[in-house]
Amino acid sequence: MPDYTAEPFRIKMVEPIHLISLAARQAAMLQAGFNLFALRAEDVYIDLLTDSGTGTMSQAQWAAIMEGDESYAGARSYFHLAESMKAIFGFEYFVPTHQGRAAENILSAILVKPGMFVPSNMHFDTTDANIRARGGRPTNLVAAAAFDPTLQHPFKGNMDVEKLHAFIRQVGPQNIPFGTITITNNAGGGQPVSLENIRAVAAAYRQYKIPFFIDACRFAENSFFIKLREPGYASKSTLEIAHEIFALADGAWMSAKKDALVNIGGFLAMRDPDVYQKVCNELILREGFPTYGGLAGRDLEAMAVGLWEGLDEAYLAYRVGQTAYLGERLLEAGIPIIEPTGGHAIYLDAGRFLTHIPQAEFPGQALAAALYLEGAVRGVEIGSVMFAHPDPDTGEMVFPQLELVRLAIPRRVYTQAHLDYVAEALIRLAQKRNNLRGYRITYSPALLRHFTARFEPL
Ligand SMILES: Cc1ncc(COP(=O)(O)O)c(C=O)c1O
Repeated sequence: MPDYTAEPFRIKMVEPIHLISLAARQAAMLQAGFNLFALRAEDVYIDLLTDSGTGTMSQAQWAAIMEGDESYAGARSYFHLAESMKAIFGFEYFVPTHQGRAAENILSAILVKPGMFVPSNMHFDTTDANIRARGGRPTNLVAAAAFDPTLQHPFKGNMDVEKLHAFIRQVGPQNIPFGTITITNNAGGGQPVSLENIRAVAAAYRQYKIPFFIDACRFAENSFFIKLREPGYASKSTLEIAHEIFALADGAWMSAKKDALVNIGGFLAMRDPDVYQKVCNELILREGFPTYGGLAGRDLEAMAVGLWEGLDEAYLAYRVGQTAYLGERLLEAGIPIIEPTGGHAIYLDAGRFLTHIPQAEFPGQALAAALYLEGAVRGVEIGSVMFAHPDPDTGEMVFPQLELVRLAIPRRVYTQAHLDYVAEALIRLAQKRNNLRGYRITYSPALLRHFTARFEPL
Protein backbone atom coordinates (compact mmCIF):
# COMPACT_ATOMS: atom_id res chain seq x y z
CA MET A 1 0.00 0.00 0.00
CA PRO A 2 1.43 3.44 -0.86
CA ASP A 3 2.14 5.98 1.89
CA TYR A 4 -0.63 8.32 2.99
CA THR A 5 0.18 11.73 4.51
CA ALA A 6 -2.11 12.06 7.55
CA GLU A 7 -4.50 15.00 7.72
CA PRO A 8 -3.07 18.05 9.51
CA PHE A 9 -6.51 18.69 11.08
CA ARG A 10 -9.22 16.81 12.92
CA ILE A 11 -12.89 16.69 11.99
CA LYS A 12 -15.33 18.83 13.96
CA MET A 13 -18.44 18.70 11.77
CA VAL A 14 -19.74 15.90 9.54
CA GLU A 15 -22.14 15.63 6.61
CA PRO A 16 -23.78 12.22 6.04
CA ILE A 17 -23.39 10.55 2.63
CA HIS A 18 -25.22 7.47 1.33
CA LEU A 19 -24.60 4.78 -1.26
CA ILE A 20 -27.80 4.17 -3.26
CA SER A 21 -28.46 0.81 -4.96
CA LEU A 22 -27.36 -0.14 -8.48
CA ALA A 23 -31.00 -0.05 -9.67
CA ALA A 24 -31.38 3.47 -8.24
CA ARG A 25 -28.12 4.56 -9.92
CA GLN A 26 -29.33 3.20 -13.27
CA ALA A 27 -32.62 5.08 -12.91
CA ALA A 28 -30.79 8.26 -11.94
CA MET A 29 -28.56 8.05 -15.02
CA LEU A 30 -31.49 7.52 -17.37
CA GLN A 31 -33.21 10.55 -15.86
CA ALA A 32 -30.00 12.61 -16.22
CA GLY A 33 -29.55 11.79 -19.91
CA PHE A 34 -26.31 10.07 -18.87
CA ASN A 35 -24.79 13.47 -18.06
CA LEU A 36 -23.21 13.35 -14.58
CA PHE A 37 -23.79 17.10 -14.15
CA ALA A 38 -27.53 16.41 -14.25
CA LEU A 39 -27.50 13.98 -11.30
CA ARG A 40 -28.81 14.91 -7.88
CA ALA A 41 -25.73 15.21 -5.67
CA GLU A 42 -27.48 13.04 -3.07
CA ASP A 43 -27.38 10.15 -5.55
CA VAL A 44 -23.56 10.37 -5.55
CA TYR A 45 -21.51 8.60 -2.86
CA ILE A 46 -18.04 10.04 -3.49
CA ASP A 47 -18.27 13.27 -5.45
CA LEU A 48 -15.11 14.01 -7.41
CA LEU A 49 -16.85 16.14 -10.02
CA THR A 50 -14.79 19.16 -9.07
CA ASP A 51 -12.47 20.59 -6.45
CA SER A 52 -14.10 23.97 -7.09
CA GLY A 53 -16.02 25.39 -4.16
CA THR A 54 -16.43 21.92 -2.66
CA GLY A 55 -13.76 22.16 0.05
CA THR A 56 -14.24 22.30 3.79
CA MET A 57 -13.73 25.65 5.49
CA SER A 58 -11.75 25.89 8.70
CA GLN A 59 -12.87 27.11 12.13
CA ALA A 60 -10.93 30.32 11.44
CA GLN A 61 -12.86 30.88 8.21
CA TRP A 62 -16.24 30.23 9.88
CA ALA A 63 -15.26 32.62 12.66
CA ALA A 64 -14.30 35.26 10.08
CA ILE A 65 -17.67 34.77 8.37
CA MET A 66 -19.40 35.92 11.55
CA GLU A 67 -17.45 39.18 11.28
CA GLY A 68 -18.51 39.90 7.70
CA ASP A 69 -19.32 43.55 7.12
CA GLU A 70 -22.26 43.68 4.72
CA SER A 71 -21.96 47.38 3.87
CA TYR A 72 -22.57 48.04 0.19
CA ALA A 73 -19.48 50.22 -0.28
CA GLY A 74 -16.15 50.32 1.54
CA ALA A 75 -16.91 47.37 3.83
CA ARG A 76 -14.32 46.42 6.47
CA SER A 77 -14.29 42.90 4.95
CA TYR A 78 -13.10 44.31 1.63
CA PHE A 79 -10.10 45.89 3.35
CA HIS A 80 -9.34 42.60 5.12
CA LEU A 81 -9.28 40.87 1.75
CA ALA A 82 -7.22 43.72 0.25
CA GLU A 83 -4.57 43.13 2.94
CA SER A 84 -4.28 39.43 2.06
CA MET A 85 -4.28 40.25 -1.65
CA LYS A 86 -1.48 42.79 -1.33
CA ALA A 87 0.64 40.56 0.93
CA ILE A 88 0.34 37.50 -1.31
CA PHE A 89 -0.02 38.76 -4.89
CA GLY A 90 1.32 42.33 -4.66
CA PHE A 91 -0.82 43.83 -7.45
CA GLU A 92 -1.77 47.50 -7.14
CA TYR A 93 -5.46 46.95 -7.92
CA PHE A 94 -8.00 44.18 -7.64
CA VAL A 95 -11.73 43.61 -7.69
CA PRO A 96 -13.55 40.70 -6.07
CA THR A 97 -15.74 38.64 -8.42
CA HIS A 98 -18.28 35.97 -7.57
CA GLN A 99 -16.07 33.31 -9.17
CA GLY A 100 -13.29 32.82 -11.71
CA ARG A 101 -15.35 32.95 -14.88
CA ALA A 102 -16.77 36.34 -13.94
CA ALA A 103 -13.21 37.68 -13.91
CA GLU A 104 -12.60 36.01 -17.29
CA ASN A 105 -15.77 37.54 -18.68
CA ILE A 106 -14.78 41.03 -17.55
CA LEU A 107 -11.19 40.75 -18.78
CA SER A 108 -12.38 39.41 -22.15
CA ALA A 109 -15.09 42.07 -22.42
CA ILE A 110 -12.62 44.93 -22.06
CA LEU A 111 -9.65 43.51 -23.98
CA VAL A 112 -10.71 40.93 -26.60
CA LYS A 113 -11.97 42.07 -30.03
CA PRO A 114 -13.24 39.69 -32.73
CA GLY A 115 -10.43 37.84 -34.49
CA MET A 116 -7.88 38.42 -31.72
CA PHE A 117 -5.78 35.60 -30.26
CA VAL A 118 -5.09 34.77 -26.60
CA PRO A 119 -2.20 32.34 -26.05
CA SER A 120 -1.86 30.16 -22.95
CA ASN A 121 -0.32 26.85 -22.00
CA MET A 122 -3.91 25.54 -21.98
CA HIS A 123 -7.06 27.53 -21.42
CA PHE A 124 -9.59 25.99 -19.08
CA ASP A 125 -13.08 25.53 -20.56
CA THR A 126 -14.58 28.69 -19.07
CA THR A 127 -11.59 30.81 -20.16
CA ASP A 128 -11.77 29.31 -23.63
CA ALA A 129 -15.51 29.98 -23.86
CA ASN A 130 -15.29 33.55 -22.51
CA ILE A 131 -12.66 34.45 -25.11
CA ARG A 132 -14.66 32.77 -27.89
CA ALA A 133 -17.83 34.56 -26.72
CA ARG A 134 -16.05 37.86 -27.59
CA GLY A 135 -15.02 36.55 -31.01
CA GLY A 136 -11.48 35.77 -29.86
CA ARG A 137 -9.40 32.70 -30.53
CA PRO A 138 -7.92 31.02 -27.47
CA THR A 139 -4.72 29.22 -28.44
CA ASN A 140 -3.03 26.43 -26.46
CA LEU A 141 0.77 26.31 -26.63
CA VAL A 142 1.59 23.82 -23.89
CA ALA A 143 4.89 21.94 -24.31
CA ALA A 144 4.65 18.55 -26.03
CA ALA A 145 5.40 16.72 -22.75
CA ALA A 146 1.80 17.42 -21.68
CA PHE A 147 0.52 15.02 -24.32
CA ASP A 148 2.68 12.10 -23.27
CA PRO A 149 0.66 10.68 -20.37
CA THR A 150 3.41 8.46 -18.96
CA LEU A 151 6.40 10.79 -19.41
CA GLN A 152 7.94 11.54 -15.99
CA HIS A 153 8.49 15.28 -16.29
CA PRO A 154 8.26 17.55 -13.20
CA PHE A 155 6.54 20.45 -15.00
CA LYS A 156 4.22 19.13 -17.67
CA GLY A 157 2.17 22.34 -17.51
CA ASN A 158 5.02 24.36 -19.05
CA MET A 159 4.36 26.43 -22.13
CA ASP A 160 6.45 25.81 -25.27
CA VAL A 161 8.31 29.14 -25.24
CA GLU A 162 9.71 28.79 -28.77
CA LYS A 163 6.23 28.12 -30.08
CA LEU A 164 4.98 31.16 -28.18
CA HIS A 165 7.57 33.43 -29.86
CA ALA A 166 6.76 31.98 -33.28
CA PHE A 167 3.03 32.35 -32.61
CA ILE A 168 3.34 36.01 -31.59
CA ARG A 169 5.37 36.78 -34.71
CA GLN A 170 2.89 34.88 -36.90
CA VAL A 171 -0.34 36.57 -35.73
CA GLY A 172 1.25 39.90 -34.73
CA PRO A 173 1.42 41.28 -31.18
CA GLN A 174 -1.22 43.89 -32.06
CA ASN A 175 -3.69 40.99 -32.40
CA ILE A 176 -2.96 39.64 -28.93
CA PRO A 177 -4.84 41.69 -26.30
CA PHE A 178 -3.30 39.72 -23.46
CA GLY A 179 -1.36 36.52 -22.92
CA THR A 180 -1.85 34.10 -20.08
CA ILE A 181 -0.69 30.89 -18.42
CA THR A 182 -2.77 28.57 -16.22
CA ILE A 183 -1.17 27.41 -12.96
CA THR A 184 -1.57 24.51 -12.44
CA ASN A 185 -2.73 23.37 -15.87
CA ASN A 186 -6.17 21.99 -15.08
CA ALA A 187 -7.16 21.08 -18.65
CA GLY A 188 -3.86 19.23 -19.09
CA GLY A 189 -3.79 17.05 -16.00
CA GLY A 190 -3.38 19.53 -13.13
CA GLN A 191 0.30 19.68 -13.98
CA PRO A 192 2.47 22.47 -12.55
CA VAL A 193 4.45 25.13 -14.40
CA SER A 194 8.06 25.86 -13.35
CA LEU A 195 9.20 29.31 -12.32
CA GLU A 196 11.82 29.14 -15.05
CA ASN A 197 9.04 28.67 -17.59
CA ILE A 198 6.83 31.43 -16.14
CA ARG A 199 9.87 33.73 -16.29
CA ALA A 200 10.50 32.90 -19.96
CA VAL A 201 6.82 33.32 -20.85
CA ALA A 202 6.71 36.68 -19.05
CA ALA A 203 9.83 37.80 -20.94
CA ALA A 204 8.26 36.85 -24.28
CA TYR A 205 5.08 38.79 -23.54
CA ARG A 206 7.13 41.75 -22.27
CA GLN A 207 9.30 41.76 -25.40
CA TYR A 208 6.18 42.27 -27.53
CA LYS A 209 4.43 44.58 -25.01
CA ILE A 210 1.59 42.08 -24.48
CA PRO A 211 -0.02 42.29 -21.02
CA PHE A 212 0.53 39.07 -19.05
CA PHE A 213 -2.33 37.80 -16.85
CA ILE A 214 -1.98 34.58 -14.84
CA ASP A 215 -4.92 32.22 -14.31
CA ALA A 216 -4.02 31.64 -10.66
CA CYS A 217 -6.73 29.20 -9.42
CA ARG A 218 -4.19 26.73 -8.04
CA PHE A 219 -1.25 29.06 -7.45
CA ALA A 220 -0.52 27.59 -4.00
CA GLU A 221 -0.35 24.00 -5.26
CA ASN A 222 1.82 25.20 -8.15
CA SER A 223 4.12 27.07 -5.73
CA PHE A 224 4.43 23.94 -3.59
CA PHE A 225 5.38 21.84 -6.63
CA ILE A 226 8.06 24.42 -7.46
CA LYS A 227 9.38 24.04 -3.91
CA LEU A 228 9.39 20.24 -4.23
CA ARG A 229 10.59 19.85 -7.79
CA GLU A 230 12.49 22.92 -9.10
CA PRO A 231 16.18 23.17 -8.28
CA GLY A 232 16.95 26.14 -6.01
CA TYR A 233 13.53 26.44 -4.36
CA ALA A 234 13.58 23.78 -1.63
CA SER A 235 14.37 26.28 1.11
CA LYS A 236 11.95 28.97 -0.09
CA SER A 237 8.47 29.20 1.38
CA THR A 238 5.43 28.82 -0.85
CA LEU A 239 4.69 32.48 -0.09
CA GLU A 240 8.12 33.56 -1.34
CA ILE A 241 7.63 31.47 -4.45
CA ALA A 242 4.20 33.01 -5.02
CA HIS A 243 5.78 36.48 -4.72
CA GLU A 244 8.29 35.53 -7.38
CA ILE A 245 5.58 34.26 -9.72
CA PHE A 246 3.27 37.25 -9.49
CA ALA A 247 6.07 39.82 -9.70
CA LEU A 248 6.45 38.61 -13.29
CA ALA A 249 2.86 39.39 -14.30
CA ASP A 250 0.76 42.45 -15.15
CA GLY A 251 -2.25 40.88 -13.52
CA ALA A 252 -3.98 37.69 -12.50
CA TRP A 253 -7.42 36.25 -11.99
CA MET A 254 -8.43 33.50 -9.68
CA SER A 255 -11.32 31.26 -8.91
CA ALA A 256 -10.96 31.44 -5.12
CA LYS A 257 -13.07 28.27 -4.95
CA LYS A 258 -9.81 26.38 -5.37
CA ASP A 259 -6.68 27.40 -3.46
CA ALA A 260 -8.42 30.07 -1.38
CA LEU A 261 -10.51 27.30 0.19
CA VAL A 262 -13.87 29.03 -0.10
CA ASN A 263 -17.18 27.83 -1.45
CA ILE A 264 -17.66 30.92 -3.61
CA GLY A 265 -15.45 33.80 -4.73
CA GLY A 266 -12.80 35.04 -7.09
CA PHE A 267 -10.86 38.13 -8.12
CA LEU A 268 -9.29 39.99 -11.00
CA ALA A 269 -6.08 41.87 -10.14
CA MET A 270 -3.85 44.16 -12.18
CA ARG A 271 -1.20 46.90 -12.15
CA ASP A 272 -2.51 49.23 -14.89
CA PRO A 273 -4.81 52.00 -13.54
CA ASP A 274 -6.55 52.40 -16.93
CA VAL A 275 -7.36 48.71 -17.10
CA TYR A 276 -8.58 48.89 -13.48
CA GLN A 277 -10.93 51.77 -14.38
CA LYS A 278 -12.42 49.82 -17.27
CA VAL A 279 -12.67 46.70 -15.13
CA CYS A 280 -14.58 48.64 -12.46
CA ASN A 281 -17.05 49.96 -15.03
CA GLU A 282 -17.68 46.49 -16.42
CA LEU A 283 -17.81 45.02 -12.90
CA ILE A 284 -20.51 47.43 -11.78
CA LEU A 285 -22.58 46.37 -14.78
CA ARG A 286 -22.18 42.63 -14.25
CA GLU A 287 -21.11 41.85 -10.68
CA GLY A 288 -21.48 44.75 -8.28
CA PHE A 289 -19.68 47.66 -6.67
CA PRO A 290 -15.86 47.32 -6.74
CA THR A 291 -15.56 46.71 -2.98
CA TYR A 292 -17.80 43.61 -3.03
CA GLY A 293 -18.00 42.51 -6.68
CA GLY A 294 -20.76 39.93 -6.47
CA LEU A 295 -19.91 38.61 -3.01
CA ALA A 296 -21.31 39.10 0.47
CA GLY A 297 -19.03 40.67 3.08
CA ARG A 298 -18.84 37.29 4.82
CA ASP A 299 -17.50 35.70 1.60
CA LEU A 300 -14.76 38.34 1.41
CA GLU A 301 -13.75 37.49 4.99
CA ALA A 302 -13.62 33.75 4.30
CA MET A 303 -11.44 34.41 1.27
CA ALA A 304 -9.11 36.75 3.18
CA VAL A 305 -8.40 33.90 5.63
CA GLY A 306 -8.52 31.03 3.11
CA LEU A 307 -5.84 32.55 0.87
CA TRP A 308 -3.37 32.10 3.73
CA GLU A 309 -4.57 28.61 4.66
CA GLY A 310 -4.14 27.51 1.05
CA LEU A 311 -0.45 28.43 1.25
CA ASP A 312 0.17 26.47 4.47
CA GLU A 313 2.85 23.88 3.74
CA ALA A 314 1.56 21.18 6.14
CA TYR A 315 -1.80 21.45 4.40
CA LEU A 316 -0.17 21.38 0.95
CA ALA A 317 1.93 18.30 1.79
CA TYR A 318 -1.26 16.46 2.82
CA ARG A 319 -3.16 17.78 -0.20
CA VAL A 320 -0.59 16.78 -2.80
CA GLY A 321 0.00 13.55 -0.83
CA GLN A 322 -3.67 12.55 -1.12
CA THR A 323 -3.59 12.90 -4.88
CA ALA A 324 -0.33 10.95 -5.11
CA TYR A 325 -1.79 8.18 -2.90
CA LEU A 326 -4.84 7.63 -5.11
CA GLY A 327 -2.62 7.81 -8.20
CA GLU A 328 -0.24 5.17 -6.86
CA ARG A 329 -3.06 2.82 -5.93
CA LEU A 330 -4.41 3.02 -9.49
CA LEU A 331 -1.00 2.60 -11.10
CA GLU A 332 -0.32 -0.46 -8.96
CA ALA A 333 -3.51 -1.95 -10.45
CA GLY A 334 -2.43 -1.07 -14.00
CA ILE A 335 -5.05 1.66 -14.48
CA PRO A 336 -3.76 4.32 -16.89
CA ILE A 337 -3.56 7.85 -15.50
CA ILE A 338 -1.63 11.00 -16.33
CA GLU A 339 1.77 10.75 -14.68
CA PRO A 340 3.23 12.11 -12.51
CA THR A 341 0.13 12.99 -10.47
CA GLY A 342 -0.63 16.70 -10.28
CA GLY A 343 -2.11 18.77 -7.49
CA HIS A 344 -5.86 18.57 -7.33
CA ALA A 345 -6.98 15.56 -9.27
CA ILE A 346 -6.28 12.20 -10.82
CA TYR A 347 -6.78 12.18 -14.55
CA LEU A 348 -7.80 8.76 -15.81
CA ASP A 349 -6.59 8.21 -19.34
CA ALA A 350 -9.83 7.01 -20.92
CA GLY A 351 -8.14 6.83 -24.33
CA ARG A 352 -5.82 4.09 -23.05
CA PHE A 353 -8.40 2.54 -20.68
CA LEU A 354 -10.99 2.05 -23.45
CA THR A 355 -8.92 1.64 -26.61
CA HIS A 356 -11.88 0.06 -28.40
CA ILE A 357 -14.03 3.24 -28.21
CA PRO A 358 -13.23 5.86 -30.91
CA GLN A 359 -13.04 9.57 -29.99
CA ALA A 360 -16.27 10.31 -31.87
CA GLU A 361 -18.01 7.94 -29.43
CA PHE A 362 -16.64 9.68 -26.33
CA PRO A 363 -14.48 7.23 -24.36
CA GLY A 364 -14.21 9.71 -21.46
CA GLN A 365 -17.98 9.95 -21.18
CA ALA A 366 -18.20 6.15 -21.33
CA LEU A 367 -15.70 5.76 -18.47
CA ALA A 368 -17.23 8.50 -16.31
CA ALA A 369 -20.72 7.00 -16.72
CA ALA A 370 -19.46 3.48 -15.96
CA LEU A 371 -17.69 4.65 -12.79
CA TYR A 372 -20.91 6.18 -11.51
CA LEU A 373 -22.88 3.02 -12.27
CA GLU A 374 -20.18 0.88 -10.64
CA GLY A 375 -19.68 2.77 -7.41
CA ALA A 376 -21.71 6.02 -7.36
CA VAL A 377 -18.42 7.87 -7.82
CA ARG A 378 -18.76 11.05 -9.89
CA GLY A 379 -15.89 12.36 -12.00
CA VAL A 380 -15.94 14.59 -15.06
CA GLU A 381 -15.08 13.99 -18.70
CA ILE A 382 -12.29 16.22 -19.99
CA GLY A 383 -12.08 15.07 -23.55
CA SER A 384 -14.11 15.28 -26.73
CA VAL A 385 -17.40 16.15 -25.05
CA MET A 386 -15.70 19.16 -23.45
CA PHE A 387 -13.26 20.22 -26.14
CA ALA A 388 -14.03 18.79 -29.62
CA HIS A 389 -15.17 21.68 -31.83
CA PRO A 390 -15.54 22.45 -35.52
CA ASP A 391 -12.53 24.27 -37.00
CA PRO A 392 -13.65 27.89 -37.66
CA ASP A 393 -11.98 27.84 -41.10
CA THR A 394 -12.77 24.35 -42.42
CA GLY A 395 -15.76 23.28 -40.30
CA GLU A 396 -14.08 19.93 -39.71
CA MET A 397 -14.29 18.44 -36.19
CA VAL A 398 -11.07 18.96 -34.21
CA PHE A 399 -10.60 16.39 -31.43
CA PRO A 400 -8.44 17.01 -28.34
CA GLN A 401 -5.23 15.01 -28.01
CA LEU A 402 -6.25 13.38 -24.73
CA GLU A 403 -9.48 11.72 -23.61
CA LEU A 404 -9.51 12.07 -19.84
CA VAL A 405 -11.79 11.61 -16.86
CA ARG A 406 -10.85 13.89 -14.02
CA LEU A 407 -11.36 12.75 -10.45
CA ALA A 408 -10.96 16.05 -8.62
CA ILE A 409 -10.35 15.78 -4.90
CA PRO A 410 -12.23 18.37 -2.83
CA ARG A 411 -10.01 20.05 -0.23
CA ARG A 412 -10.11 18.70 3.34
CA VAL A 413 -13.23 16.59 2.61
CA TYR A 414 -12.52 12.89 2.02
CA THR A 415 -10.40 10.44 4.02
CA GLN A 416 -8.04 7.65 3.03
CA ALA A 417 -10.91 5.13 3.24
CA HIS A 418 -12.92 7.15 0.72
CA LEU A 419 -9.98 7.19 -1.68
CA ASP A 420 -9.58 3.42 -1.25
CA TYR A 421 -13.26 2.99 -2.12
CA VAL A 422 -12.72 4.94 -5.36
CA ALA A 423 -9.63 2.90 -6.26
CA GLU A 424 -11.48 -0.36 -5.66
CA ALA A 425 -14.45 0.68 -7.83
CA LEU A 426 -12.03 1.46 -10.66
CA ILE A 427 -10.18 -1.83 -10.21
CA ARG A 428 -13.49 -3.71 -10.57
CA LEU A 429 -14.30 -1.65 -13.66
CA ALA A 430 -10.94 -2.44 -15.24
CA GLN A 431 -11.86 -6.12 -15.15
CA LYS A 432 -14.93 -5.54 -17.32
CA ARG A 433 -13.63 -2.69 -19.48
CA ASN A 434 -14.16 -4.59 -22.76
CA ASN A 435 -17.92 -4.60 -22.17
CA LEU A 436 -18.13 -0.80 -22.00
CA ARG A 437 -19.66 0.99 -25.01
CA GLY A 438 -19.46 4.54 -26.38
CA TYR A 439 -22.13 7.24 -26.37
CA ARG A 440 -24.04 9.40 -28.84
CA ILE A 441 -25.05 13.02 -28.08
CA THR A 442 -28.81 13.61 -28.33
CA TYR A 443 -28.78 17.30 -27.25
CA SER A 444 -25.96 19.82 -27.25
CA PRO A 445 -25.85 23.65 -26.76
CA ALA A 446 -23.42 25.83 -28.76
CA LEU A 447 -20.97 26.66 -25.94
CA LEU A 448 -19.78 24.65 -22.90
CA ARG A 449 -21.85 21.68 -24.04
CA HIS A 450 -20.54 19.28 -21.39
CA PHE A 451 -22.64 20.95 -18.70
CA THR A 452 -26.03 20.32 -20.31
CA ALA A 453 -25.57 17.82 -23.15
CA ARG A 454 -27.66 14.64 -23.08
CA PHE A 455 -26.45 11.23 -24.21
CA GLU A 456 -27.59 7.80 -25.29
CA PRO A 457 -25.44 4.67 -24.88
CA LEU A 458 -24.53 3.05 -28.22
C1 LIG B 1 -7.90 26.74 -14.40
C2 LIG B 1 -9.28 27.29 -14.19
N1 LIG B 1 -9.57 28.51 -14.64
C3 LIG B 1 -10.78 29.06 -14.43
C4 LIG B 1 -11.79 28.39 -13.78
C5 LIG B 1 -13.14 29.03 -13.61
O1 LIG B 1 -13.46 29.30 -12.29
P1 LIG B 1 -14.97 29.29 -11.71
O2 LIG B 1 -15.46 27.88 -11.78
O3 LIG B 1 -14.85 29.80 -10.34
O4 LIG B 1 -15.79 30.18 -12.57
C6 LIG B 1 -11.50 27.12 -13.28
C7 LIG B 1 -12.56 26.41 -12.53
O5 LIG B 1 -12.96 25.34 -12.71
C8 LIG B 1 -10.23 26.55 -13.50
O6 LIG B 1 -9.90 25.33 -13.04
